[in-house]
Amino acid sequence: MRIVTIVGTRPQFIKATALSKALRKAGHCEFLIHTGQHYDFEMSRIFFDELDIPEPAVNLEVGSGPHGWQTGQMLIKTEEVLMDQRPDFVLVYGDTNSTLAGALAACKMRIPLAHVEAGLRSYNPEMAEEHNRVVTDRVADLLLCPTRSAVANLEREGVTRGVHLVGDVMFDSVLHNLNLADARLRILKTLDLIGRPYALATVHRAENTDSPVKLRGIFRALEMIAENELPVVLPLHPRTRQKLESTHIVLKRVQLIAPVSYLDMLTLERHAQVILTDSGGVQKEAYWSKVPCVTLRYETEWVETVQSGWNVLVGTDSERIVRAVKDVRPGSEIQDAYGDGRAAEKIVHLMEKGDDV
Ligand code: UD1
Ligand code: UDP
Repeated sequence: MRIVTIVGTRPQFIKATALSKALRKAGHCEFLIHTGQHYDFEMSRIFFDELDIPEPAVNLEVGSGPHGWQTGQMLIKTEEVLMDQRPDFVLVYGDTNSTLAGALAACKMRIPLAHVEAGLRSYNPEMAEEHNRVVTDRVADLLLCPTRSAVANLEREGVTRGVHLVGDVMFDSVLHNLNLADARLRILKTLDLIGRPYALATVHRAENTDSPVKLRGIFRALEMIAENELPVVLPLHPRTRQKLESTHIVLKRVQLIAPVSYLDMLTLERHAQVILTDSGGVQKEAYWSKVPCVTLRYETEWVETVQSGWNVLVGTDSERIVRAVKDVRPGSEIQDAYGDGRAAEKIVHLMEKGDDV
C-alpha cells in the first residue's frame, strides 16, 4: 500500500511514531507530508531527530496565520501533492488545522481517509479543534477510535460505519519509549530536580491563552504554588510565550524553560509530584505515569483519566487550582482504557483489510 500521512504539529509527530514503525514493518510505503504548522526547532525538528519517524518527504511550510488562511493554504498545497502521489490511503491524526486540511483534500479527491483519534469530543463549540474533529469524522472512511467513549460518541451521532476501537497510538508510543526516558535523567540534572518534589505545568490552549482573564488566573495560581507549595517547571509553548509578553504578565517564581524533547518530557512527567496542564496528550501521559493531574480546563476529551480519579478538571480560577494541588491523591486504573499498546498494528491491519472503505 502507498500511504500519505499528514502531520504538522508537535503532538502529531509523536502520534506518528508508532504507526510509521508498524507501516514500515508491514512493508508499506509511507510518504510523510509536514504542513509546516509548527516550525520552531523545539516544536518540530527535535522530534524528527529524536524519534523513529521518517523524514518528511515534503514540507508545505505553511506556518502560522488565521484559521481560514492556514487551513486554506494547507488544503491547496496538500491537494497538489496528492494529485502527484495518488496514494491508496491518506492518514490524518487528531484535530488540528493540519488534520482538517488533509481530510478535506483526501475527501475531495475521493482517496480513502483514515482518521486516528476519531470520535473524541469536548462538546465545547468554542474550540477550533471540536469543529476540526467533527468534520474530519464526517468525511473519514476508517474511524480509528482510541477509547470506548469515543466509539459511544460517534454512535450517538449515528456514525457506525468504518468505526473501530483500536486503542491509543500515544499509549503505544509511551510503552515504546518508557525505558529510554527512564534511563535518562539529564533534564532533571540540568534543572537541579533530582530527588526534589516539583510540579510540572504546560499551558497552550487557545481558550486559555487568548483570554487575559483566564491566562492571569492560571499564572497567578502557578506563582502561588511555586511560592507556597513546591517548585513549578513549565516548558513554554510559543503561543503562550507571546501571550505572556503581550499581556505583560511577569513571573517571579515559576521556572519557565523552552519546550523540551519528547523523552525529556516523559522524564519530567514521570518524576513530577503533580502535573498541571491544559494539553490533551499530557493529561493521558500523567495517567500512564500514575502522577495526579490538575487540568486547567472545564471539560476533557479524555474522560477516562477523570473517571479513574487521577485527573481533576478545575478550569482557570486561581483559588480552585491551588486547592486542587493541595488535595491531589492517587486514583485507580481502568482496565484497557487506552488499549493494549498495539493500536498501531491494529490500524495497519484494518487499512490492509479495507473492507469498510
Ligand atoms: C495547535 C493546534 C492545537 C494543538 C497544538 C499542539 C489548531 C487549531 N491548534 O495549536 O489543537 O493542541 O497545536 O501544540 O490546529 N508558533 C510559533 N512557533 C511554532 C508554532 C507556533 O511561534 O513553531 C506560534 C505562532 O505565533 C502561532 C501560535 O504559536 O500563531 C499558535 O500556533 P498554531 O499552530 O496556530 O496553534 P497552536 O496553539 O500551536
Ligand atoms: N511535549 C513535549 N515537549 C514539551 C511539551 C509537550 O514533547 O515541551 C509532548 C507531550 O509529552 C505530549 C505532546 O507533546 O506527548 C502533547 O502536545 P501538546 O500539549 O502540544 O498538544 P495537545 O496534546 O494538547 O494537542
